[in-house]
Formats: sequence, structure tokens, C-alpha cells
Amino acid sequence: MKNENFYPKVTTNTLLEMKNNGEKISMLTAYDFTFAKIIDDANIDVILVGDSASNVIAGNETTLPITLDEMIYHAKSVVKGVNRALVVVDLPFGSYQSDPKKALRSAIRIMKESGAHAVKLEGGQEVIQSIERIIKAGIPVMGHLGLTPQSIYKFGTYSVRAKEEKEAKQLLSDAKALEDAGCFATVLEKIPSKLAKKVTKLSSVPLIGIGAGNQVDGQVLVLHDLLGLTHEFNPRFLRRYLDLNKTVKNAVSNYINDVKNLDFPNENEMY
Ligand code: KIV
Repeated sequence: MKNENFYPKVTTNTLLEMKNNGEKISMLTAYDFTFAKIIDDANIDVILVGDSASNVIAGNETTLPITLDEMIYHAKSVVKGVNRALVVVDLPFGSYQSDPKKALRSAIRIMKESGAHAVKLEGGQEVIQSIERIIKAGIPVMGHLGLTPQSIYKFGTYSVRAKEEKEAKQLLSDAKALEDAGCFATVLEKIPSKLAKKVTKLSSVPLIGIGAGNQVDGQVLVLHDLLGLTHEFNPRFLRRYLDLNKTVKNAVSNYINDVKNLDFPNENEMY
């Protein structure tokens, strides 16, 4: 491991400094105050209020249904729990694709109403004008290339992207376009590690991978997956650090038994 510096407050400049020092960036999702506070206390570098809230919090099959108001609600709760991490919020599907003015309005609402530090949006050259408009207004933007879940109905599956040369070339040129437009970092999701390594070498801004191998500048995972709260989702890139699904079920079963057997509350738990 590289000699780690401790950054009391993480900014977009910190991430660049970390890339230039060869220090890996850690990033996780959070959608509420309690988990945001726990992972911030653990010194996570970046907290993403991801539109994966649509799946793991709202129970939707895709990220498409979540609204801008719902993202702002999650982001507001997260920001209240954070002292150190950089908080990035996903612009949800439909809030930025139609035109740059709408994209800017959506980004401004997120920044103003939640107190977050940056926004993230999916796509390459097709959304460059929106990215430029948002950055011009002083709002930092994180890009997202490779598997972009808001386009799931175009892809048809959640399988690895950019395996073919044509798509790999497109991804390389999209990464460059995002960097030139001023994105402070980009997420690379589910692409071959060889390609991720190549893009990362060519990029002067941090590239953060999920299912993109270990030659990128940092890693991001969905917190609920890492904690083993979700069980249905089992991609190869996912490392579960806990089986909280089982732990929570056991705790709840014990509680139910105690209630049924008049074991809870006991003498010490009453007034
Ligand atoms: O919404 C999300 O959680 C994401 C990550 C998977 C990068 O975009």
C-alpha cells in the first residue's frame, strides 16, 4: 500500500492529488443519515447518493423510476451525516438528457436543496453540452461510462460493456471528452480491466471503477451489496464483507421469540 496521507476534508482537488500520489480513492453509496454517518466516520473518501436507491431503497427493478425530488430527499439526509467525505449525487434519469438548460436546473436544485458537493451523470459525448453547462455554473460533475444502468433498455442486459473494439474505442474517446469538458472524475462500470487500465493511464483525472479491475484510481460499491443486505445480486466484481441479511433476520427472529415468550421486556427494561 502507498503511504496514505490523511485528508481532513475531501474535495475534488483532494481526489486529483490522490491520483497524482498514486493513492487509491474509496467510494461507497449511501442514501440516509445513519449509514452516511457510519461510513464517513470510517473515513470513506467519497459518498455517492446513487440512483441505485431506486433498486435498494425503493425496490424498483431499474434505476429509471427514481425522481429528482426523491434523490434530493436522500441527498439531504446523507449530507447531514457527513463531515469529511465528498458527497456526490446522481442526476436521475430524465433530469438531464433532454437539454442542457434542464440539466443545469436539475443540478442546481440538488446543490441548493441538499447541500451536496457535486453531481454525477451517465453518458459520453451525447451529454457533453449538459456537462459543460453545469460546470460553467460552478457545479463539479462526475462522469459515468461503461455499463450505464439508466440505458438498460438500450443495452438489454447488465453484462460487461466495451468488450468489442468499436465500443472500447468509443469509451476511450468519451473518457477524453468528459475530461476535456471539465469532469473532475469518472466512474467506469463493468468493463474489461485491460481497457480500464488503458483509459486510466491516459486520463489526468481520477477514474473510479466498479467491475473495472484494480488498475483504476479507486473503487466504488453499493453499500447494501458490500454489507450483504442484498442477496439477489451476485456479480463477479462484488465482494461481500458481511452477511447482514442473515444477521438482521436472526436478530428479528430472536426479538419475535422474546416477545411471544414474554421474555421481552424484562424487569430491567420496564419503568
Ligand atoms: O447509482 C449507483 O449506485 C452508481 C454506482 C454503481 C456507481 O452509479
